[in-house]
Amino acid sequence: MKLLWGGSPEPPHNKTLVRYRTHACPVADKFFEKNGFLRIEKPFSPTGTPIDYLQPKPLFRMITLNNVSKYYPAGFGKTYVLRNVNLTIDQGEFVSIMGPSGSGKSTLLHILGLLEEPSEGEYLFLDEPVHRLSEKKRTELHRNHIGFVFQAYHLIDELTVYENIETPLLYKGVSTSERKSRVADVLDRFGIVAKKDLFPTQLSGGQQQLVGIARALVAQPKVIFADEPTGNLHSEQAREIMELFQKLNQSDGVTIVQVTHSETNAEYGNRTVKLRDGWLEPKEAVV
Ligand SMILES: Nc1ncnc2c1ncn2[C@@H]1O[C@H](COP(=O)(O)OP(=O)(O)O)[C@@H](O)[C@H]1O
Ligand SMILES: [Mg+2]
Repeated sequence: MKLLWGGSPEPPHNKTLVRYRTHACPVADKFFEKNGFLRIEKPFSPTGTPIDYLQPKPLFRMITLNNVSKYYPAGFGKTYVLRNVNLTIDQGEFVSIMGPSGSGKSTLLHILGLLEEPSEGEYLFLDEPVHRLSEKKRTELHRNHIGFVFQAYHLIDELTVYENIETPLLYKGVSTSERKSRVADVLDRFGIVAKKDLFPTQLSGGQQQLVGIARALVAQPKVIFADEPTGNLHSEQAREIMELFQKLNQSDGVTIVQVTHSETNAEYGNRTVKLRDGWLEPKEAVV
């Protein structure tokens, strides 16, 4: 049986509970459903006050892709990378995207992260029709809500580790003192304080990956898109990153969408979707 956390067995209505847990009650021992309510056994509210019955909170849709395709011109025709992808993700979900190399995973994640545009189809992010927004507005949405971990790190070579991590906070207009404390906090959390004045080229691949993840988290985004975030880490570091993602998801309600080749990593999420030659499985109905 898969453990959720703190020894809780997987409940019968996993989907509702995972979301419910994220939004309402980070600390509880046991769940079951009764008359449409979720009962929490040995319950605690985040402040320590016992809660008896809690009604599930409404879910908020974060992402809707309707028939999204991406293609590139090839000779007189087109090469499709994504084909009619329909996908919905609610706030508080932790979704894993899997699929063979070249199946379109990075392209899909870049579209979700507002870094690339689909060739066809609609994308709604937090109810905003991304496909109709100006580039300026898309950049603003990205900066304010999204943390992106790139497959190839994309650190700025001319900036130190400290400055790379600070960048999203500068764009967001965070004050100097707040920036200092937040960067110090993630440097510490990732065990890279000693590397703060080095440049990316002076780091190993694994260290660069950690800096890339730290940079994605520092601005406390609503959603994290992570493209094979542990691909270059040894298994102990990979486990720590997955546990950190799980904690952010369960305790802080951060939505997470990760691309991974690892079944172990995928199991940290509450749902896996698969890409094959640009087709998404399981197919979702358009809502
Ligand atoms: N700019 C581009 N022009 C043409 N083909 C591209 C471009 N970017 C990606 N592709 C192709 O799209 C396919 C999917 O790429 P990608 O999304 O990176 O896959 P994955 O992350 O699953 O390995 C690959 O076959 C790749 O060659
Ligand atoms: Mg990729």
